[in-house]
Amino acid sequence: MSDDHAANPRTLGKCICIITGASKGFGRALACEVSRSVMPGSILLMVARSGMLLQELKEELQSFTEEHKLVVRCITADLTTREGVNDTVAAVRQEAADEMDHVLLVNNAASLGDISRFVNFTDFDKVNSFLSFNVSSALALTAGILKALPCRAGLRWTVVNVSSLFALQAMPSWVLYCTAKAAREMMFRVLAEEEPNIKVLSYSPGPMDTEMQQEILRLTGVSRHLLPCQEPAAKLTKLLLDNSFASGTHHDFFED
Ligand SMILES: NC(=O)c1ccc[n+]([C@@H]2O[C@H](COP(=O)([O-])OP(=O)(O)OC[C@H]3O[C@@H](n4cnc5c(N)ncnc54)[C@H](OP(=O)(O)O)[C@@H]3O)[C@@H](O)[C@H]2O)c1
Repeated sequence: MSDDHAANPRTLGKCICIITGASKGFGRALACEVSRSVMPGSILLMVARSGMLLQELKEELQSFTEEHKLVVRCITADLTTREGVNDTVAAVRQEAADEMDHVLLVNNAASLGDISRFVNFTDFDKVNSFLSFNVSSALALTAGILKALPCRAGLRWTVVNVSSLFALQAMPSWVLYCTAKAAREMMFRVLAEEEPNIKVLSYSPGPMDTEMQQEILRLTGVSRHLLPCQEPAAKLTKLLLDNSFASGTHHDFFED
């Protein structure tokens, strides 16, 4: 670990940070927060399908990143596909990670899927395709990045799973979303058990004003009070800065 980081624990260190789903919503807000909490020389890799939105965010961050010597790269990849996962891992492998003292991977990208009664999910392929993106892709991506940037002495390794209350709570008509979030939660708990040198956090950001919530409103007609993404993003960043959470645990935005 660099001397600077040891002297200033209120940073995430010289960090290579990979955020999936950074083009919009929570991932975008988190990219902005994290970029302000890393040491100079850090690398931020932002992944999504929309290269244009990623590029816009990169430009928005530019004056700050230039001043703070932060390298920002956009990875345009569709994480529903094998190629998208492999291209993302390959892009991570190209970075000079031996100069870093922290790897932070945020598995944020996800989809909502159909909101419908259990009995309507008769289409095996549709169910598989949802689970493939929301569960399998996050597992293969995390495993690939763990292999690309293996643990070593002096390297802090953190994996964040962006979770939901629905990982813990069964909700009628939300079988796809609840199942995927519960599976991801267990998947990352297994990682925490296997790898004592990796800190794993499942973070539930609360209801936020994003495109996913617009889709929920369209499908259910139910509107609710929504948080601006910056608030849960700032709270997650604080949790990571404090680094006092137990590996494998679930934290909710509304918890103290
Ligand atoms: N919004 C809420 O109230 C809420 C509450 C609890 C938990 N969450 C969780 O928070 C996370 C972020 O949600 P959000 O509301 O910010 O969602 P969002 O507005 O729908 O944004 C999703 C992000 O994921 C990316 N993405 C979607 N499909 C992708 C794919 N196939 N490949 C690569 N990237 C893809 C999107 O970018 P592109 O479209 O450019 O690919 C976008 O950047 C999710 O895990 C969600 O389950 C959200």
